[in-house]
Amino acid sequence: MPGLSGPSDYSQEPSRHPCLHINAKEPFNAEPPRSALVSSYVTPVELFFKRNHGPIPLVDDIERYCVDINGLIESPKKLYFRDIRMLPKYNVTATLQCAGNRRTAMSITRKVKGVGWNVSAIGNAVWGGAKLADILELIGVPKLTSSTQSGGKHIEFVSIDKCEEENGGPYKASIPLSQATNPEADVLLAYEMNGEPLNRDHGYPLRVIVPGVIGARSVKWLDSINIIAEECQGFFMQKDYKMFPPSVDWGNISWNTRKPQMDFPVQSVICSLEDAQSIKPGKVRISGYAVSGGCRGIERVDVSIDGGKTWREATRFQKTGIPYIADGISNDKWAWVLFELTVDIPQSTEIIAKAVDSAANVQPEKVQDIWNLRGILNTSWHRVHVRIGHSNM
Ligand code: MTE
Repeated sequence: MPGLSGPSDYSQEPSRHPCLHINAKEPFNAEPPRSALVSSYVTPVELFFKRNHGPIPLVDDIERYCVDINGLIESPKKLYFRDIRMLPKYNVTATLQCAGNRRTAMSITRKVKGVGWNVSAIGNAVWGGAKLADILELIGVPKLTSSTQSGGKHIEFVSIDKCEEENGGPYKASIPLSQATNPEADVLLAYEMNGEPLNRDHGYPLRVIVPGVIGARSVKWLDSINIIAEECQGFFMQKDYKMFPPSVDWGNISWNTRKPQMDFPVQSVICSLEDAQSIKPGKVRISGYAVSGGCRGIERVDVSIDGGKTWREATRFQKTGIPYIADGISNDKWAWVLFELTVDIPQSTEIIAKAVDSAANVQPEKVQDIWNLRGILNTSWHRVHVRIGHSNM
């Protein structure tokens, strides 16, 4: 691709914030301390988790950078960066969560394969860009189309990075055409993050944002778009990011028996306390994030300070001064809610959070029940143990 290139080694990586916890150096995978997630509703770019499968691409010449649109359409087209910037711009506040968030905790029950993540492979950002539905309309695919005349039913996004899992080929993923052409689904070709041009780690110059869906489908460093009949056959759609039952292991796995994971389930995490933290007896503020995929809001967050015997409801909020009501019209419908509850903690105990989404889906209690060999979607009740002693809060 003129204008954008994918290096084959790690000699030209960007610099990163020193407080990120590095889970893998090459490719670079890192997450912020959990306390950073509840410091602000919108996660600062430098503290946003970084999830990569190869070296970070480089822009050689932004004037020559363009996206090729091919496949089952009447007339293929090249869209230059300036063409995309001419389209109406939308700002969508959306939470991006890696399907591997909380994998390390799943691995403790029984080993799983994949980069270990604590609870911060998630962040909330304001993504600015053009709607994919507008771009597809420009090339002759009308809004709310589920199949093109020549049988195109999926939109494949292809990057330029060189990934080992793809034998040195690029990262790719697809979404259904019906979602891509639905303006309400808010799928973006984003060039901004929190009001600034995307940085290299997050997909400069252009990335896809698929709100409400696992981060793996939000392809960074977009090189081409293909309109195809079947979903993308790439590694990350067919041989990864699928949810298997606990009985499946590496000896009996049959990848094609399961569909690629798209929406993520309801999740919540306590971020104001570390596990095994010492606190002073008395009032303690418990806060964290809760989020659900598929445009479902958060109906409730329950907190227990006695290991799950009794529960109290936490307060939920997005923006200060605006009450949060699940699926209310003034919400950011693709974004997390933060929750808080201040309680008296007289003795050492286990504190638990569990969220309920607007479809009444509840987080499962035990990680054992949702264990899967790739360690995705650990949404079990989040637990932290606190000890009464000398405070390090
Ligand atoms: N796109 C490309 N080209 N290469 C990648 O490795 N990783 C995916 C997705 N898009 C990836 C990609 C995964 S698994 C996630 S969770 C998100 O990007 C992470 O986005 P972030 O690094 O901006 O947080």
